[in-house]
Amino acid sequence: MPLRAATETDLPAIAAIYNAEVVASTATWDTEPVSLDERRAWLRVHPAERHPVLVLEERGEVTAWGSLSPFSERCGWAGTVVCSVYVAQGFRGGGRGRAVLDGLCRRGADLGHRVAVALISADNAASLRMCVAEGFFEAGRLLRVGRKFERDLDCALLQRYLRDRAGAVVRDAAGRSLWIRREHDGDTWWILPGGGVEPGETPEAAARRELLEETGLEVRLGGLGYRVLRHGRVQRYFAAEVVRVVGAAGTGPEYGADGQHRRGRATPEWLLPSEIATRRCLPPPIAAALARGDAWPERPVTCEDERVPSAAHR
Ligand SMILES: CC(C)(COP(=O)(O)OP(=O)(O)OC[C@H]1O[C@@H](n2cnc3c(N)ncnc32)[C@H](O)[C@@H]1OP(=O)(O)O)[C@@H](O)C(=O)NCCC(=O)NCCS
Repeated sequence: MPLRAATETDLPAIAAIYNAEVVASTATWDTEPVSLDERRAWLRVHPAERHPVLVLEERGEVTAWGSLSPFSERCGWAGTVVCSVYVAQGFRGGGRGRAVLDGLCRRGADLGHRVAVALISADNAASLRMCVAEGFFEAGRLLRVGRKFERDLDCALLQRYLRDRAGAVVRDAAGRSLWIRREHDGDTWWILPGGGVEPGETPEAAARRELLEETGLEVRLGGLGYRVLRHGRVQRYFAAEVVRVVGAAGTGPEYGADGQHRRGRATPEWLLPSEIATRRCLPPPIAAALARGDAWPERPVTCEDERVPSAAHR
């Protein structure tokens, strides 16, 4: 869908879409319609190169808009932005909300932001579902912090990491999962396929690309969860099912002409859950959850890399 940066001429449409929610719903906790002058001032504090406002224009009409606003003026919050998305009544249910939110997150990642936050009235089911569908998770709720239409309102705090790493947990029919065995400087360790998400790339696309480069497999992805690696990096994981073998293992940019990873010999290896546990590829609670076939935790879990350099676990 054709998203572009908003200009002053879009402000009447942006204000009209917003004001329809001010008077009719809890999507915004504003209780009085905003004026054009207020929206002009708002656009001025949303420079395209830092906190963009995007509009979706269809046949000359603005049907949806979204913005990335600073979460706080305090410097430590600089990498965190708040997303807002509004779709004109009459244009909903056609994927516009998701398209705008996706566009905002991509733009936010390109601009160097780390985290997108959505502050959603807990009774706003459509917005909650849209955010979860776009990779946000609920980090918590503030209870009875709002009041509109004579009702107390809870606020759901959702967040999404914009500069994810992405990986895949691939299972075969025998219940084994695919790991990359690395040998380097006399150490052996196992890692799940995965790597960095490139700017403008979705975590799904990155997981697929990494898997293809590392193992030569084309996969179908499902949902899984997150974990926090060392140095605060977050890795999004997907459950994956092999569709077909399309190439050779070890063909990505991190691999040399001989197919070996620049950090040592790397070989894809299928492991049973018991082997994952005994080799301590993952922290025990996550290894146990995966062995049981449970979903990966939906909230980020802090853990170290899978590296197991000790000879005892080879
Ligand atoms: C929330 C909003 C932006 C969604 O826009 P939309 O174009 O209708 O949404 P999409 O068609 O892209 O659908 C996005 C997801 O939300 C879900 N959704 C949409 N409308 C829904 C509804 N009425 N009830 C429950 N879920 C709904 C859809 O299931 C969809 O998920 P899926 O694709 O995985 O099924 C739109 O309803 C809106 O503008 N609401 C008022 C403003 C608002 O609440 N903004 C969010 C606060 S910042």
